[in-house]
Amino acid sequence: MKKTLLPLMMAMGILAAHSQTMPTPSVIPVPASLIANSGTFTLTNNTVISVAAGSSKELDEMSNQLSKVLYTATGFHLKTDHAGASDGIQLEILSTPNSALGNEGYRLSVTPSGVHISANKAAGVFYGIQSLMQLLPKEIESNTMVNQVSWTIPCVTIDDQPRFGWRGLMLDVSRHFFTKEEVKKFMDDMVKFKFNLLHLHLTDDEGWRIEIKSLPKLTSIGAWRVERNGKWANSPKAADASEPKTYGGFYTQEDIKELVKYGQERFVTIMPEIDVPGHSMAALAAYPELSCTGGEHTVYQGIPFMNWFPGGKFEAIVENGLCPANEKVYDFLDKVFSEVATLFPFEYIHMGGDECAKNFWEKSPAVQALMKKEGLKTMPEVESYFVKRVEKIVNSKGKKLMGWDEILEGGISPTANVMSWRGVKGGIEAAKSKHNVVMTPSTFAYLDYVQGEPLLEAPVYASLRLNKTYSFDPVQEGMDAKYVLGGQGNQWTEQLGNYRSLQYMTWPRALAIAESVWSPKEKKDWNSFTSRVEKQFDRWDISDDKYSKAMYDAIVGASKDEKGNLYANLSTELSGMNIYYSFDESNPDNYYPKYSKPVLVPKDAATMKIVTYRDGKQIGKQINIPVTELAKRAPKK
Ligand code: ACM
Repeated sequence: MKKTLLPLMMAMGILAAHSQTMPTPSVIPVPASLIANSGTFTLTNNTVISVAAGSSKELDEMSNQLSKVLYTATGFHLKTDHAGASDGIQLEILSTPNSALGNEGYRLSVTPSGVHISANKAAGVFYGIQSLMQLLPKEIESNTMVNQVSWTIPCVTIDDQPRFGWRGLMLDVSRHFFTKEEVKKFMDDMVKFKFNLLHLHLTDDEGWRIEIKSLPKLTSIGAWRVERNGKWANSPKAADASEPKTYGGFYTQEDIKELVKYGQERFVTIMPEIDVPGHSMAALAAYPELSCTGGEHTVYQGIPFMNWFPGGKFEAIVENGLCPANEKVYDFLDKVFSEVATLFPFEYIHMGGDECAKNFWEKSPAVQALMKKEGLKTMPEVESYFVKRVEKIVNSKGKKLMGWDEILEGGISPTANVMSWRGVKGGIEAAKSKHNVVMTPSTFAYLDYVQGEPLLEAPVYASLRLNKTYSFDPVQEGMDAKYVLGGQGNQWTEQLGNYRSLQYMTWPRALAIAESVWSPKEKKDWNSFTSRVEKQFDRWDISDDKYSKAMYDAIVGASKDEKGNLYANLSTELSGMNIYYSFDESNPDNYYPKYSKPVLVPKDAATMKIVTYRDGKQIGKQINIPVTELAKRAPKK
């Protein structure tokens, strides 16, 4: 009985699946050229992955990886064929290179008889596969087998290559530690959107995360701190010395080798960052003799330790910098960079260089003596002296120096490379003086900033919505593009204590970064992007990955007229949405007043409640904003 019904049921399933409407091809980042053709190709258990005999080992490995990925949701066992089959999925490295495709470009052609991905290099084939995955039904993202889906792919011709060679995401593993498996997952998540560089921020005040065999205290002491689980930097007092240091972790050198290899198999290069001379409390906890005061230090555990003043000025309450006048510091860094250089094959090592408070340097007799000896007049010149010595060490290990844009201050060596984070100014200045630049401006690319209505999100000191991130262009006016290596999004993790919150803050804004660094500028289009982002939301729902839907929430601003009357100014990031509101404390729906122009706030209102709708359905979260908060948002006259 069962046996006779099964084929019929399967056929019904397939029939049901065939009646699904074909989705329009939707790829992030948008390809340089995508031509949608009529017809489809359907993946079955009999489809083979064809790799020409004698082609690279990398292609065989990629075929196996693809087969494994497809198996999870489809249950199909796709075999690799070396006999020149021309149907199925063909992966090809062109024997005669196509100069239009460069090192990472690809051509993806889907016809009713099969899929053909060709490229000059294996990386291109890999990116072709990522596009192919996005053309498959969303259920391909399932972590378990899905029945009753026809694995149909729309016919297309895609010719694609990246705008920039440096397409990065930075992950701060110091403030909160992310395990080796989580870092691998982060790489899996990024390569789907053709990122190729993972910048690991390995050291900071909150923890030293990489084993340095010649300096074992860096991890036996520097990787551990007392546990705090509340609001970041809100600890009322410093930990008692007897309190156990239970939070932390680090990567052994074997872990690092495994991560580097994992990245290489997915065309991700890992750039290590050792952040000095500031941000070094964890290193000082391990080796206090490297500080200017020589006193006892602890790994940072959440007490306020820096005073910030208007105009970006600051001073350290607790010493967190290496002493530039101490020769032991340079011996220490020689050891660190020696081991780091051996572990990471990438040509760049990042030395940090950001936010170094100088107030402990200013008071140090050793620094005063150094200034006299070297003829240094200002603290930026002292810092520049330090950076130049670090560059020599890094160069002596066969590597190039990368640093945050503070390394420009006080004079920079002609060979140093700059990561522009304090807006775009540093990047423009560096490119003008012929330094290579990676653009990571906080104004577009800081993924730890609040991405929606602050009342609904975890508190962070700055905001950055998806549409602002999407307007990121690594080549700013006044820059010669030849000095711009590319761009990246930075994910700082002071407030991100687990992988789910890390994902929430990263996606979808990292999609906007991906499109800004991969796609031709003229192909970028906000409405097209957001409709593709929404399709990606469906995929993440299936793969059970976390992301933010803040783009659906209203943007709430305010203004005052000459008489001091308060108005609410509302808008949305997406087109086609309606906003409804109340002032009477009841929860609005789409029968409430619809927002069309700035609304006068009634004198007796205590709260404005706001919702967004699309096509008659609530789509954004309800925002309840106290009128007192609204008043604070009105620009001062
Ligand atoms: C930085 O955000 N301090 C580079």
